[in-house]
Amino acid sequence: MAPRLAAVFLAFVLVATSCNFILAGADDVGEDLLIRQVVDHGDDGQNLLHYADHHFALFRKKFGKNYATQEEHDYRFSVFKANLRRARRHQKLDPSAVHGVTQFSDLTRAEFRRQVLGLNRRLRLPADAHEAPILPTNDLPTDFDWRDHGAVTPVKNQGSCGSCWSFSTTGALEGANYLATGNLVSLSEQQLVDCDHECDSGETDCDSGCDGGLMNSAFEYTLKSGGLMREEDYPYTGTDRGGCKFDKTKIAAKVANFSVVSLDEEQIAANLVKNGPLAVAINAVFMQTYIGGVSCPFICSKRLDHGVLLVGYGAGAYSPIRLKDKPYWIIKNSWGENWGEKGYYKICRGHDICGVDSMVSTVAAVST
Ligand SMILES: *[C@@H]1O[C@H](CO)[C@@H](O)[C@H](O)[C@H]1NC(C)=O
Repeated sequence: MAPRLAAVFLAFVLVATSCNFILAGADDVGEDLLIRQVVDHGDDGQNLLHYADHHFALFRKKFGKNYATQEEHDYRFSVFKANLRRARRHQKLDPSAVHGVTQFSDLTRAEFRRQVLGLNRRLRLPADAHEAPILPTNDLPTDFDWRDHGAVTPVKNQGSCGSCWSFSTTGALEGANYLATGNLVSLSEQQLVDCDHECDSGETDCDSGCDGGLMNSAFEYTLKSGGLMREEDYPYTGTDRGGCKFDKTKIAAKVANFSVVSLDEEQIAANLVKNGPLAVAINAVFMQTYIGGVSCPFICSKRLDHGVLLVGYGAGAYSPIRLKDKPYWIIKNSWGENWGEKGYYKICRGHDICGVDSMVSTVAAVST
């Protein structure tokens, strides 16, 4: 018994150390403390609120937050305090990840949803969607990451615009285009934000810039319009008031076809390995406080509100709390490199956690 406990303890120390390593990446001791205090399991809440002033000052400095009036400052401080408590709740519900202060700690849940998500919700997959053919799954690698194979561009930042869907779409097409042509080209989200007003089959949800959209509709738009321009030819502005400036002569990547992958994790993995990064939807509630590690909340809504890019998976790291290996998906997000693990999120595989398996699309590019 004793050696086993020791092993568990050692594993815990190793995980704790690797988390510290992640946090230390920000090379600021004060910040490291800030996060550790927030996630302290023994904390009864007194400590947290006692230091809230200090945490808030560090937060404002780190993320360059300035508030126009004292009123605004006071209001944001109250939201920040509520988010400290929420980070602590998330830590308890999601012990294999680290939760704490992020750049979104002064936003209410509603603001967060409106400003940095942007998936138009639809409970069913489109009735007319093509289903991806079933692939063999016997020879899948145990670990796989498209970043190691040159198919993923650097992490981008959607800013205060509900345009996640456009980043998920470009990410999938960037990968598919790389597989088809051998060139990794960063593609334009702004073209989608400005020009894509495609609706789903029921005509109820239409792609609408910073107010949200759907990856499948965006693939449909890209197929119909001819393709997407390069990021550098049609750069991101983070607003949807500029009007469409699509130039057909500057198309850099074209969609050949796209399809929906079945709700089976082995099929998702097989499609990922064969076709490149996949556009997926997820419930993002735990992402507002996510710092690092494998997110595997005991309870998470499957209501999809965010579009991201699935780029790989890992066989698992030992989770001392659950006493077993925890396999995970590797997700590229669009909130900049300062969020999460250098812009990435890890979420556990196996149970459609936060709905991550329930809306998955694959796209193929035309090889020119
Ligand atoms: C999609 O397009 C690719 C590339 O042209 C092709 O190889 C593949 O067979 C197509 N898939 C479907 C389901 O039509």
